[in-house]
Order: sequence, then C-alpha cells, then structure tokens
Amino acid sequence: MPTGSLVEIARTPTTAAQPETIRVPEIEPGVGCNFDSYLLVPDTSLDTRIRAALDRLGSSVVILGHHYQRDEVIQFAHFRGDSLKLAQQAARTEARFIVFCGVHFMAESADILRQPHQQVILPDLNAGCSMADMATIDQVEACWDQLEALGGLNVVPVTYMNSSAAIKGFTGRQGGSVCTSSNAAAVLRWAFERGERVLFLPDEHLGRNTAYRMGIPLEQMIVWDPYQNLGGHSPGAIRQSRMILWKGYCSVHQRFLPEHVDRVRRQHPGIRVIVHPECRWEVVQKADRVGSTEQIAKTVSAAEAGTQWAVGTEIHLVNRLGKEFPDRTVISLDPNVCVCTTMFRIAPQHLLWALENLGQGRVVNRILVDEETKGGARLALERMLSLQ
Ligand code: 13P
Ligand code: SF4
Repeated sequence: MPTGSLVEIARTPTTAAQPETIRVPEIEPGVGCNFDSYLLVPDTSLDTRIRAALDRLGSSVVILGHHYQRDEVIQFAHFRGDSLKLAQQAARTEARFIVFCGVHFMAESADILRQPHQQVILPDLNAGCSMADMATIDQVEACWDQLEALGGLNVVPVTYMNSSAAIKGFTGRQGGSVCTSSNAAAVLRWAFERGERVLFLPDEHLGRNTAYRMGIPLEQMIVWDPYQNLGGHSPGAIRQSRMILWKGYCSVHQRFLPEHVDRVRRQHPGIRVIVHPECRWEVVQKADRVGSTEQIAKTVSAAEAGTQWAVGTEIHLVNRLGKEFPDRTVISLDPNVCVCTTMFRIAPQHLLWALENLGQGRVVNRILVDEETKGGARLALERMLSLQ
C-alpha cells in the first residue's frame, strides 16, 4: 500500500490501553487486530514481513529502540539509544507514528513530547518497568504532604525518567525536573540552585551515586520508605538531610554485587569494570567507570582492541557490544544472566502486529497521556532537555 493512501485518522481516542479502530478494511489472513494470530507467524518470515510493512509505511513511521531491546527487534530501529537520546529524538521527529521499542515510561515520555499530528505506539503494553512501579502518585503526594507539614524544608523534586507520567506531572507542577542516568548530575546541580534539599524519585541508587559523586556525604542522605510514617525518619533527621531518596530500585541492576567486581578482577587481570548508575553504591565505588547505556556503549566502542570490559548492565546490551567488537573482551559483571524481562516483552511478533495494523489503518496499543498530566510532565521534561 503506498504511503499516500495510508490511514485517515479523525477520531478521539478514549483510553491509552485499547486498540483503536479507525476503519475496518478487508483483512488479509494473518493480518489483523488479534495479536494471537501473530504467534503463529513462522520466525523465518518475520523479518521479511516487518521490512515489507516498513517499506509500505515509509516516512510515516519511525521506530525508536532502547539499547536493551533484543537483536531481532533493535535491528529495525531507525534510532537507538539511552532514554535521554530517545526522548530527544521523540521530540524532534516528524513521522506521524512513533513506534517505541522500549518500556511504558519511555513511550509515555514520547507522547508527552510529541507534536499534535503524531501518535505513539508501544508494541506490547505489558512492557513496564518494575522500578517505575515502586512509586505511585498517591504515595508520592502523601510523602510531599508530610514534608510540607514539617514546614520550611525547601524541597525540590527530581524524578528519574523511569517513573510514570503522573509522577512527572507532579514533579513539574512542584517546580522540579526529570533526569536520566546520563544527566542526573546536571539536573541535581540545577535543583540545588533552587532548594536546600532534593526529593529524588524513584531510584535510590541513581540518586545516591550521583549526589555522592557531587560531594554530598552519605550521612546527608536518607531513604524514604513510603510504607512508614515520615518515610521511617524523625523530623530532625529529615531536616538534616539534603537528599531524600525514594526507596526504589531496579531489580536487574541491584543483582550486581561488590564481590562480582572482586571476582572478575581476580579472573581477568587488567579488566576494566563499567557499570550503570542504577547499581548499588558499593558496586559503583569498586568500578572504574559509571555511565548510562549510551555512555557504556560509547566507552566500549571507543576502547582499543585487546581491552577487556566487565559490564554491569542488562545482558542484551552487553552481548551486543561483545558481538560488535570481537577484538575486545566484553563480558557481564554477573555470570548469571541479567535480563530485563519487561524490555524482553517486545518481540518481533509485536512489532510486526503493530506495523501491519498501521498498514491496515488501525493504531493498536496507542500510548496517550491525559492533557492534565501532560501539562506538568512536559514542564518537567522540558526543564531537563533545556539543561543539555
Ligand atoms: P538509560 O537511561 O541508561 O538508557 O537507562 C534506562 C534504564 O531503564 C536502565 O535500566
Ligand atoms: Fe526498569 Fe530496570 Fe528494566 Fe531499566 S532495566 S527498564 S530500570 S526494570
């Protein structure tokens, strides 16, 4: 189908989670709204059909892929990167459909930053993030109310990209900013120019690692447990803190332990250890380098032949770097494979389903953030983007 005859969209979508029927054309066998039939598509024809669907859709579609996506999916990404790079790309792309091969909070951010004529699609709505789920908007608002009730604390909220649109909206309305793993220090500097302390959501490790590298001592950081009154602290302890770290973590990165660093150094003398800042503070202290997925990829790609790297991040990126740079040794810091199971939800079958439905005039799995949430969330995202 030529691009010109594609999709007439004139409807008001109702929810983010429902497939939207725009018009129902004659449907070819194996092409349709029902995803289950795509489970039967033989692996051998997936690539050919995805390419054909992309050819038909032409410049009306752009695929954004996070570094943790599997090879079978990332090969089709027009742009790949870390969460910051993908958010920047989402904000500047012109394509009518943004198919986000990543997780839910990334697609939500793309929907917040998109232009009015665009729509964002997440090929599998089950691709969430367990860390983002560790802070609900009700918990964060309850925390904020308790901090305000103490009086005179002058707190600036900073939320990691890995959080719901509702929390980004709250952050924006309260004068705070989003950050990612590659710009957290710049955003924290910005926040400390505006307030005495920061409420950092929802990853305690990124918050601690970043603040510590900026010179804030551990004694000035407390962890807020949303299931306890005042987060589990006395008013005095909260007043003495500069960083209030939300009790949240990434189940993939928290698996890396300091003893893994010791072991890999024993087993591979001379190896360099590079880890993601979602790792525990004790692991980061023992590493040679720390950086976002994009920074890890750039570091390994710029390294000399013969160098050895133990990487503390999700296994698909580690394995890909190993394959792309066979003259370097690239291994996982943890010999037990660390997979992000939600990133893994996006299978080539989902991508094909989303693209072939687009070709048939249907937008499936659209991600749509409501306008009220969007207002504050856009503020918080744009504050971050303006700091680059
Ligand atoms: P990056 O911002 O480094 O891509 O990290 C996102 C993420 O979810 C890491 O777990
Ligand atoms: Fe979330 Fe961790 Fe997966 Fe990143 S690796 S998307 S933080 S669960």
